Formats: sequence, C-alpha cells, structure tokens
Amino acid sequence: MIDIHCHILPDFDDGADSLEEALDMVHMAVISGVTDIIATPHFQGEAESLQQLPIIDRQFQVLRAAVEKNNLPLQLHPGAEILCVPDTISLAAEHKLPTLANTDYVLTEFYFDESFSFMDEMLSDIAGSGYRPVVAHPERYDVIQKDPRLLQRWARQGYVIQLNKGSVLGSFGARVEQTANEILAMGLAHVFASDAHGCHSRTPHMGALQQWVEELCDADYAAILLEHNPRRLLHGRPMVGT
Ligand SMILES: [Fe+2]
Repeated sequence: MIDIHCHILPDFDDGADSLEEALDMVHMAVISGVTDIIATPHFQGEAESLQQLPIIDRQFQVLRAAVEKNNLPLQLHPGAEILCVPDTISLAAEHKLPTLANTDYVLTEFYFDESFSFMDEMLSDIAGSGYRPVVAHPERYDVIQKDPRLLQRWARQGYVIQLNKGSVLGSFGARVEQTANEILAMGLAHVFASDAHGCHSRTPHMGALQQWVEELCDADYAAILLEHNPRRLLHGRPMVGT
C-alpha cells in the first residue's frame, strides 16, 4: 500500500514528535503492508509560510537518511498538506504550492466550518493554475456532512476525494463516520490515507482499515481505494473511477 497523507516528519508540525517516533511510525506502516509514504506536514497556504519549505525539506532529508540507515523497506516521498486561505490563490498562480511526490497533485484542506462556496472557488482557482487538487478528508467538513452529494461536483471537476482511515473506523465520531460511509456508498471516494499523526492514536498502521474496506466494499472498489489510485497518484497519473 501507498499512504499519500501522513504527518511523519519529525519536529515540524503536530505529527511525529521526534526522529525516534517518526521511525516507529515507519515501522508500524511497514508491518501493515505500506511500501511508500508521502510525507505531508501542515503548510499554511500563504506567502509568509514559504520560508518553512526549506525546513520541511531538511526534516524530510533527515528522516529519509534515517530510514535508509536503519534499512527500513519504505520509500519516502516529499509533500505537504496545504491549509487553503485567501492568499493561497496567489501562491497557486505563482506556482509556489508544494506538491505531492513531485507531481502536479496538491493535498488541500480547509477549516472545518468553511463555506462550500469558498472551498469550491479555491479549488477551482488552484486547478486553474495547473494543479490537480486532492481534497483531504471532506467527511470532516460541516457543509459536506450536511450534504455529501456536494462532492459530486468536485468529482466531476476531476478533484481527488481522499477519505481518512480514522473516519470509517469511528475515531472522529458518528457524524464523520456516517458521512464517510455515504461518500463511499455514492462511489465518490478515490483514495484512503492514514492522515497519521503519531504512534498512539491516528497511527500509520493500515491493517484495520484494510480489513474494514475489504469487508464492506466490493473487491474492485477496495483495490481501487487502497492500491490502484494511491499508486496512480504517486506517479502523477489520473485516478480510475470508483
Ligand atoms: Fe492531515
């Protein structure tokens, strides 16, 4: 499996607290069948945050070197999770957004109470600047919980819909779980990811998710969500339908 959303870089955001914890996260991922992780630390999408990109790159190099030194069978890829704010439009227009694994995919998130019109306009502007938006955990947004069918519009626009492991496993409460289930039932999800933040809760271990998806989705859908689309995304290829 390939995990396209994981806060595994040490000492940067609210993910791994240390290099030791980051390596423990790598180990957890590997034993659950993960071969590749895109490291996606939080990045506020505004000009003042650009100075953080060299720090993200340094922490990425530190972790990648430690993974190699410890002979852990995992490929680490660069990325970020971009919190979209009004300034993000300028960064997109100037082609300064950090992408996933050097593709044109960008992992985007919003404040949970953001309006649909703001998110829609933002995603449209990002796509218009030549990026392919990946919408992180839409099941956690108020407006999507009220009407998950709104995601039909984004799927039609070619945006990637990414659900969180913890959402279907009940980690974020019944409302998020129900919304994730509705998105899946409508066939609107493209890919699952861990959105892991550590070794204790919100971990990168994919075993329980894999079991859940294989039990509750048909075999083709399960393979698309957990295998085919994460791999296609890693290589910058378009998603296959669900
Ligand atoms: Fe995240």
